[in-house]
Amino acid sequence: MLNPYTEPLHPGLWKMLTVAMCVALVGCLQAQELRGHVSIVLLGATGDLAKKYLWQGLFQLYLDEVGKDHSFSFHGAALTAPEQGWKLMAKALESLSCPSDMAPSHCAELKDQFLRLSQYRQLKTAEDYRTLSKDIEAQVKQEDLREAGRIFYFSVPPFAYVDIARNINSSCRPGPGAWLRVVFEKPFGHDHLSAQQLATELGSFFQEEEMYRVDHYLGKQAVAQILPFRDQNRKALDGLWNRHHVERVEIIMKETVDAEGRISFYEEYGVIRDVLQNHLTEILMLVAMELPLNVSSSAAVLQHKLEAFRGLRGLNKGSAVVGQYQAYSAQARRELQKPEGFHSLTPTFAGVLVHVDSLRWEGVPFTLMSGKALDERVGYVRVLFKNQAFCIQHERHWAPEQSPCLPRQIIFHIGHGELSHPAILVSRNLFRPSLPAHSWAEVQERPGLRVLGRPLSDFYAYSPLRERDAYSILLSHIFHGRKESFITTENLLASWDFWTPLLDSLAHEVPRLYPGGADTGCLLDLELNGGHLSFSQQQPEQLVPGPGSAPKPSDFQVLRARYRESPLISAWPEELISRLASDIEASALQAVQHFGKFHLALSGGSSPIALFQQLAMGHYSFPWAHTHLWLVDERCVPLSDPDSNFQGLQAHLLQHIRLPYYNIHPMPVHLHQRLCAEEDQGAQTYAGEISALVANSSFDLVLLGMGTDGHTASLFPQSPTGLDGEQLVVLTQSPFRPHQRMSLSLPLINRAKKVAVLVMGRTKRDITMLVSRVGQEPRKWPISGVLPSSGQLVWYMDYEAFLG
Ligand code: BG6
Repeated sequence: MLNPYTEPLHPGLWKMLTVAMCVALVGCLQAQELRGHVSIVLLGATGDLAKKYLWQGLFQLYLDEVGKDHSFSFHGAALTAPEQGWKLMAKALESLSCPSDMAPSHCAELKDQFLRLSQYRQLKTAEDYRTLSKDIEAQVKQEDLREAGRIFYFSVPPFAYVDIARNINSSCRPGPGAWLRVVFEKPFGHDHLSAQQLATELGSFFQEEEMYRVDHYLGKQAVAQILPFRDQNRKALDGLWNRHHVERVEIIMKETVDAEGRISFYEEYGVIRDVLQNHLTEILMLVAMELPLNVSSSAAVLQHKLEAFRGLRGLNKGSAVVGQYQAYSAQARRELQKPEGFHSLTPTFAGVLVHVDSLRWEGVPFTLMSGKALDERVGYVRVLFKNQAFCIQHERHWAPEQSPCLPRQIIFHIGHGELSHPAILVSRNLFRPSLPAHSWAEVQERPGLRVLGRPLSDFYAYSPLRERDAYSILLSHIFHGRKESFITTENLLASWDFWTPLLDSLAHEVPRLYPGGADTGCLLDLELNGGHLSFSQQQPEQLVPGPGSAPKPSDFQVLRARYRESPLISAWPEELISRLASDIEASALQAVQHFGKFHLALSGGSSPIALFQQLAMGHYSFPWAHTHLWLVDERCVPLSDPDSNFQGLQAHLLQHIRLPYYNIHPMPVHLHQRLCAEEDQGAQTYAGEISALVANSSFDLVLLGMGTDGHTASLFPQSPTGLDGEQLVVLTQSPFRPHQRMSLSLPLINRAKKVAVLVMGRTKRDITMLVSRVGQEPRKWPISGVLPSSGQLVWYMDYEAFLG
C-alpha cells in the first residue's frame, strides 16, 4: 500500500502523479465550464397543464440557465402515437414567449434553440421507457457530455402514477453521480389513508429526496416571499408577529369561475380538498411557523413547517361552514349523467376557522376561505394587527405614516383583485419594510385604487419587478434542488391528518346554496364567535332537500314538570343549556355570598361540553376566583389523554376562565406512573382532599349525567363499589372503554346541596321512560339511587330525551 504521507516517493512516481494531477485539473476546469447534461421528461406533454404553464415554465428555465453550467434536452411524452403527439406538442410550443424586456431577435434565436432541443416520444410500454433511457445515454455519450441528472414531471392523473413510477425506477434511473428528480401534481390522495397508501407506493420506487410534490401556490411570488419577508424584516416583526399584537389572520382565495367542465374531479374532491387542504394550509404554515435562523436552509424550513403542523388545534364541525353555488347540482347531473333527483352535497365554498396552539398564536383566529362562482377573483393573506388607539382628531387630519388610528395590517396580495398583480403591502403606520431591491420595487400610486377597503396610499406597497408564473419559479427550484418549496411526505400526511376528521364530519352536511356572482350578496359572510365560525345571516330556505328548518328554541317555552318526584326542566338543547348554566351561576353566587366559596363537581363525557362552553363564553359574572372545581368521575388514562374527562374540562372550560390553579382538583388516577392501582390509594387521596376542603364533604353542586344503561357518574349497574357504604370515592369498572374508572360514590353525591342531572338526545329516550317508573334500585339503575339526603335534585332534559 502506498501512503504519500508516510513513505518517501520514488522520482518516477512523482512524475506520474504530477501528470495525473494535471489531467485531473483540466478535467475539473472542464467540469466547471459544464456541470453536465440535464434531461427533462414532461409526462402528459400534450395535456392542459403542460399547454398552459409547463412548456412555458421549461422555456423560462432554459432562458434562465442557457449559457451557464448545463446543457439540456426536453422530452415531451404522452400515450399518444408519435405523429399526432408531436403535432399537439408543437402547438403548445408555438405560443412560447420571452420576457417583455428581451429583444425579439434574441428571443427568436433562443426559442429556435429550445425547439431544437425538444422532442416528442410516445411512452406507453416498459420498452418505451428503456428506449428513452438508452437514447439519453447515447446522446450524452455522442456529444461527449457528463450526465448531471434527469427530471420526470408527472403531469398525468394520479391513477397513472404508480405504473410510470415503476417504469422509471426500473429502467430510467441515471448512472452513478447523476441525480433523479420526479415531480408530482396534486391530488395526493383524498384523505389521510389514501394519501398514505399513495405515498407508500411511490416511496417503494423513489427516495424522499428524489420526490418533488408541487403545490403551485408555493411558487406564487407573494407566497414565496412570505418567509424571506419575515426574515428580512425580523427586527420590525419580532415584537409584532404574535398573539399579543395580531388580531386575526385571513387566508383567502376567491374565484369567479365555477367547476363546470371538471365536475367529475370536483364531485370527488370539493373545495376543502381542492384548495384548503393544500394551497391555503401551506400559506397558513408559512405565516404561523417559527422562523428558522437560516431561511435558505431547506431542511430547517421543512422541519419548522412540520413542527407548526403539530400546533394545529383539531377541527370540528363548528370550525367550518360550507356552501354550494346553485347551478352546481344541475351541472353535476349533466356531466355525470345523474338522474333528475340527484343533489350533490359537495361544497364549492368553505370557510374554516383554525387555531394554532402555540405560545405565539394561542387565541389568534386564522380564517381560511375559498369558493367558486364568487363575486371576484382575488387571493391574499391579511395579517391584521390589534389597534388600541382611541382617536379624537378628525379623520381628515390623520397622517398615514404615523396615525395609530388607521388599521394596521400586512397583506401578501397573491394576485388579481383591484390591484391585479402580486404585491406586499404594509400599513404605513407599522414600518417601512425591506424587500430584495433587485426583484421587488415600490408600486406606483394609482389614484382611486383601494385594497381591502383602504386607499393604496395607506401602505408601503411593493411588487415584483418582473411578474413570473408560479410554475416557472417552481421548475427553477426543482432544477436547483430547492426542496423547501415542495411538499414532503411527512408534510402531506400531517396536512391530511389535520383535515380528514373535518372532512368526515362534513360528509353529510347540506351546504348552504348561493346564487353565485354578485347575486350572492352577503349570504356567505362569516362571523367568528368564540371558537366557532358561522354564517352571519340566518339560514335561508334551502332549495335542496336538507334537514329542513328545525323549530327554534324560542318557538317553545321552557317546560317545568316533575320527574321522579323532583323538579324537571325541559327545553330545546340550546335553551336547556343556557338555563342550566344560569342556575349554576345563581348557585355559585349564592354560595360565595354566604360561605366565600363554591364547590362544584362536574361530570365528563359529551353532554356537558355545550354547558362548559356556555359557562366559559356567556357568564362573565361567574365567581370563578372563589370556585373549586372537582371531578365527578374520571377515566383511568393520563390526564393529558384526549379521553380524560379532565381534558374535556380543560379544553372547553378551564382554558377560557380564570380559576386559581389551587382551586382545580383533578382526580389522581395517574400515580407512580401507573393508572388506578388500588395500592396507590388514589381514591382515598381524593376523598381526603374533599374532606379537608369541602365542609361536611357536601358539594354545593354536583352535575351528573345519565347513561342509556342507567349509569351515572362512573357507577354502573351491579357495581360492587360506590352504590352504598362509607367510601366517598371509589374505583369502578365500566362496560365501555376505558374500563377502569374513578368515581364519587352515591353516598357522597347524596350529601350535596344540589344535584343537577343533565340528559340530552333521542338515544336517552328509552332509559328516561324506564327510570321514570322504577323505584330506588341503584344496583339495577345507579341513577335511581341519586336522592340527596337534605339537598335538592333537579332534572334537566331536552325535548328529545324527555318527549322523544
Ligand atoms: C387549483 C385548483 O389547484 O388551483 C383549482 O384545483 C383552482 O380549482 C386553482 O381554480 C387556482 O389556481 P390559480 O393559480 O388560478 O389561482
